[in-house]
Amino acid sequence: CCLLLALTLLVPRDAASRKCDLQGLWRNELGSNMTVLATNTAGTFSGSYHTAVAATNKQILVSPLQGVQQHPGAKRHPTFGFTVQWQFSDSTTAFVGQCFVDHRGKEMLETMWLLREEVLSHKDTWKATRVGTSIFTRVK
Ligand code: BTN
Repeated sequence: CCLLLALTLLVPRDAASRKCDLQGLWRNELGSNMTVLATNTAGTFSGSYHTAVAATNKQILVSPLQGVQQHPGAKRHPTFGFTVQWQFSDSTTAFVGQCFVDHRGKEMLETMWLLREEVLSHKDTWKATRVGTSIFTRVK
């Protein structure tokens, strides 16, 4: 038992196997900042999103986000989704993604998003949705 204990203490834990924690301040490749608050036991979380870019000319405002993480507390690389209710535009953005930890222990949120813009007629639906990918890294 003592040998096992010694091995557990001495052998460094593989950084990539560390659990990913969504809570914190994250930044993506566009320079947008996102704060995710603690996930509750059911896996739901809230936070705020400060986008660095916008499809409108209106003044950017920090906007609330609501999300859910799959298998809270159990999985090491959880999938999640969240929506942002923009406070300065009629659009809604939905993100889905997964949290990964690289071999150095650096966490990354790999996401895809859909942004639905409000159009005045369903005839304009064809141009109402944008799609993209985004990678967030932890700031804090
Ligand atoms: C809008 O322009 O109607 C609202 C702001 C949208 C910002 C988008 S959401 C996807 C992409 N990733 C970001 O961080 N910002 C843009």
